Amino acid sequence: MITSTVAELFTQENKHIDVEVKGWVKSFRANRFIALNDGSTLRNIQCVVDFESMEEALLKRITTGAAVHIKGSLVESQGKGQDVEIQVSSVEILGDADPELVSKTILQPKRHSLEFLREQAHLRVRTNTFGAVMRLRSALSFAVHDYFHKNGFNYMHAPIITGSDAEGAGEMFRVTTLDPKNPPLTDSGEINYTKDFFGKETNLTVSGQLEAETYAMALGKVYTFGPTFRAENSNTSRHLAEFWMIEPEVAFMDLEGNMDLAEDFLKYVIGYVLKNNVKDLAFLEQRLEQEEQSKPQNERSAMRLTEKLNFVLDNNFKRVSYSEAIDILRNSKPNKKKKFKYPINEWGADLQSEHERFLVEKHFKCPVILFDYPANIKAFYMRLNEDGKTVRAMDILFPGIGEIVGGSQREERYDVLKAKITEVGIPEEELWWYLETRKFGTCVHSGFGLGFERLVQFCTGMANIRDVIPFPRTFTGIPYQSFKFAFMSLVMV
Ligand code: 4AD
Ligand code: MG
Repeated sequence: MITSTVAELFTQENKHIDVEVKGWVKSFRANRFIALNDGSTLRNIQCVVDFESMEEALLKRITTGAAVHIKGSLVESQGKGQDVEIQVSSVEILGDADPELVSKTILQPKRHSLEFLREQAHLRVRTNTFGAVMRLRSALSFAVHDYFHKNGFNYMHAPIITGSDAEGAGEMFRVTTLDPKNPPLTDSGEINYTKDFFGKETNLTVSGQLEAETYAMALGKVYTFGPTFRAENSNTSRHLAEFWMIEPEVAFMDLEGNMDLAEDFLKYVIGYVLKNNVKDLAFLEQRLEQEEQSKPQNERSAMRLTEKLNFVLDNNFKRVSYSEAIDILRNSKPNKKKKFKYPINEWGADLQSEHERFLVEKHFKCPVILFDYPANIKAFYMRLNEDGKTVRAMDILFPGIGEIVGGSQREERYDVLKAKITEVGIPEEELWWYLETRKFGTCVHSGFGLGFERLVQFCTGMANIRDVIPFPRTFTGIPYQSFKFAFMSLVMV
């Protein structure tokens, strides 16, 4: 008797062998055909029951959602589209699923909306769509580690609780053990954080970059891959309050090297899933095509999912300076026809996602790396250019996603960095340790941050970032609305 996963059964060379498998019933048809899935693959294995030789009471318990242990013989299938099936000799019910209760959940095999699935995040991974998305997410995270391991990087665990604001944007979740109803106060009536758990104000990290920089100054090439938190009031299909970020940081590497690294890395991880997740991708591609059918013709994507992924592999990312991009945007049709919500009038404007998407999807029609942004719209740690007004920043923009990577060459000069920190009003005692790295063997160095969920969105074609992370944590200040939903019909999930 061979104990297998469903995926292993499909690759089993020997037929007519005794096998056993455990999984969940997807459906049970005609008192005879169990479609069984155990999560190892998208495909269900058909288990054929001889109902005449089975007790009625047992047959009744084979219901959608139930966990079962099946023993039988693996045989070539008579059914169309199945290569093997199991001729069942015994069924043991491991966990019942009451059909009455199942009918109220998303386990019921019929068309559900993605919004409805979000309400049952604990069950949605049992659907084909979420099974495929989460297997892809897992494969992508393995590919991330694989890439860095193969390229001599050290994996560094950045702290989750920090005392600094790495992006200087003030979008942090506070961590405290003080009693919110009765906090200790200073003489001037403010909350006295010296009495707090860590003796000072602390928050959940928005980025592991600053700590990673200190490690790059010793280990050379490092990367972080961990959860990061942002209290942004952004209620969009691309923002989460808790998301995972990958942040490589490399000593002696300049911005060109940083661009090369980011491009090579993105191509590697996308190539990895194209090679290793063929079935899940094919399913997601089909799902996406179905969804696209419900959109107006001019909103439909020109490329299929795998075409889009291959397109990224086969083409160089277009490298464009911020100044060039502003010229393109200023002279663009939507700008002239006042179609942009935020018109581009002058150099220095911050780019909104409508601009980024125009550049990627309409103008260049390929991934774009924008670099050399105005200093005053970027973070304090970026290397100031000789012009005194731009910094060595880079953002990578992807079709359908917009910004997927943000990075820069870092300001390695102590005096320049110190002046900048003072200028933007960060208290020096918050970043003294960061400044110190510029005192002891400072050097040119660079890094970037990749939003992992945006990568998973790109690779799965899922429109909403809430559908690529197991339990999405998002801003709920105002009800979520997106024009996308106008086109969202019920899809087979
Ligand atoms: O551009 P960001 O803010 O850059 C940094 O945090 C740098 N410290 C990275 C570095 O240089 N080491 O964020 C990096 C990426 C973005 O490009 C985006 O993909 C993702 O993180 N991101 C988010 N993803 C989901 N939800 C959010 N709220 C996100 N904010 C940023
Ligand atoms: Mg950014």
